[in-house]
Amino acid sequence: MLTLRELTEKTLTELGIRDALSVEDVFAKVRESFDKQIATRADDVRNLMLREAWLGSETNPATSFRSFWVSRESGVLTLISEKWLKSAPPNLKPIVGRQFNQLKAHIEAGLEQQRKKIESLTEETSLAKDRIDLSLPGVHRPIGSHHLIRQVFQEIEDIFVSIGFSVVEGPEIETPYYNFEALNIPEFHPVRDDMDTFYLELPKGAATPLLLRTHTSPMQIRTMEKQKPPVRVIVPGKVYRRDNPDATHSFMFHQVEGLAVDTDITFCDFTGTIEYFVIQFFGPSVKTRFRPSYFPFTEPSVEFDVSCPFCGGTGTAASGGTCSKCKGAAWIELFGAGMVDPAVYGFVNYDAKKVSGFAFGIGIDRMAMLKYGIDDIQVFFQNDVRFLRQFP
Ligand code: FA5
Repeated sequence: MLTLRELTEKTLTELGIRDALSVEDVFAKVRESFDKQIATRADDVRNLMLREAWLGSETNPATSFRSFWVSRESGVLTLISEKWLKSAPPNLKPIVGRQFNQLKAHIEAGLEQQRKKIESLTEETSLAKDRIDLSLPGVHRPIGSHHLIRQVFQEIEDIFVSIGFSVVEGPEIETPYYNFEALNIPEFHPVRDDMDTFYLELPKGAATPLLLRTHTSPMQIRTMEKQKPPVRVIVPGKVYRRDNPDATHSFMFHQVEGLAVDTDITFCDFTGTIEYFVIQFFGPSVKTRFRPSYFPFTEPSVEFDVSCPFCGGTGTAASGGTCSKCKGAAWIELFGAGMVDPAVYGFVNYDAKKVSGFAFGIGIDRMAMLKYGIDDIQVFFQNDVRFLRQFP
């Protein structure tokens, strides 16, 4: 029994075919062979090789079923056309031609049907691949949150903005003029000893020394230099001091400066504003008080205390012993403040006879410690996620 290849490599005469019936027979054999192959291939359509042969390039005829049947150079149809049709004896030419056309139509229809099937299967597979399974648990991406200090900054800013203050920021590297002199702290003034700071190493001949600011107060001067009264600003930011680290001290910490200057600001406006802020921040149950203090840039100067929020201002802990936070004093020192010293207005060309105002400088880290019951300032800077996660 000849293979299909062998059959189509011979002419009809060589195959001994001499009448119409035998022609129909031999064409029927070819058709049967095609039908068998295509049925087998149809079961095998997921085979990648086959898919490539059908849908991709046909450069490898060995794997290409399509090429085997219809390639122009050596496909079965080409061979039949060359060997059987062209060289058919004249009496058989019409029947061979008819049979050839029918076979060609049959093969092309079969191939087209198969192509469509494979295409839709390929589409289904890629759709299945792309399908999103909504029932799968999602990839958990931890979301960060603001550091507690940043949150406290925000709380303080919100309170002051709600009563007409605006927020400004200033440089962390300052000149001694803004950090000290213009705040009425001349060179060799003893108060400089409390604020010994970090000076920058500068090239020889630099116009002025530079230092890391020890407080946010230089922004009082910078703001007034830029702006005529009325002024109502708060200045959040980082400050630096050469303090040894302990539970309440850090060499880098945070302050919010406040400054209000106008033609009619009184001591009552000052105390009213501060009390309003403290009650908004700590809640209505806290009490406030002033104690005389000293800052070269405010006159009079005060320290502002709040009744201890831990023992309710009694000095006694819930256990009955002395409150460890206020050490029994019932009050906790909050921050320094005062009416702006008229001498300061001289540095910014304000008329001290016409304007008055108040200023304050809040230590944010200690405020956060008080409000959230944190007993060591250092935890703010250690970035231990177990601490940070407690303040999402
Ligand atoms: C000042 O810095 C003044 N500039 C505040 C001021 C502004 C007074 C405007 C009057 C008018 P003082 O040195 O007290 O003040 O610091 C203010 C606050 O910063 C303190 O109450 C404290 O909460 C905080 N603070 C000071 N030193 C440290 C430190 N080493 N670590 C953490 N917080 C500190």
